[in-house]
Amino acid sequence: MHQFDRKEIEDLAKIYRLNLINSVTGYKSAHLVGTCSEMGNENLAVFSSVVHLGSNPALIGFILRPTTVPRHTHANMKSTGVFTLNAISKDQIEEAHHTSAKYPEGVSEFDYTLLEPEKKRDWKAPYVKGAPIQMGCKYLNEYSIAENDTLLIIGSIEQLYIKKGLLQEDGWVQLDKGEIVSINGLDGYALPSLLERFAYARPKK
Ligand SMILES: Cc1cc2nc3c(=O)[nH]c(=O)nc-3n(C[C@H](O)[C@H](O)[C@H](O)COP(=O)(O)O)c2cc1C
Repeated sequence: MHQFDRKEIEDLAKIYRLNLINSVTGYKSAHLVGTCSEMGNENLAVFSSVVHLGSNPALIGFILRPTTVPRHTHANMKSTGVFTLNAISKDQIEEAHHTSAKYPEGVSEFDYTLLEPEKKRDWKAPYVKGAPIQMGCKYLNEYSIAENDTLLIIGSIEQLYIKKGLLQEDGWVQLDKGEIVSINGLDGYALPSLLERFAYARPKK
């Protein structure tokens, strides 16, 4: 097996270390976060750190990189109080990835990709048209993570849209039916397929 200790990891070349550490923790969720500035400028960015925090109330969290450079998603969600999460499907990966490019404030990633904004129910943040799962979220809070200067953003799910065919009778959403991708590292996009679904696990007698 390949072997690295902490010192060896620290001494690796930056890009190698970034690829290594971003991929070893496993497949990650793939979302496009849509926001809008107070001035009405739309913004879209790919995020791989969105996690479930709890279902009652329905909460999500994600990690925001240090705000030492302008972070439009963060600034917009703080000023308007809302954002959208849009699951990325197989046919959107190239355009979705491009939203990580550093466009200046006032430039919308929607104008430089084939992704289209969709307005729903007066929500003050754009959804991504055609995304198989769309969530309208409220920005609730943020916690700073002292160890690396990142922020844990907390949001509540206020609106939820799921493409037909994915939602099963018991509320479970079958992601592979929407060809929803996951992220391997920082630039690898994978299409998981469901192996099995199990009954609630109880201790063996
Ligand atoms: C696959 C992938 C995943 C990413 N995940 C995150 C993330 O979880 N948190 C984050 O702050 N930035 C993440 N980024 C970087 C943002 O997409 C990038 O900084 C983007 O320019 C932010 O846009 P904004 O300044 O308009 O908010 C990711 C980039 C890629 C390519």
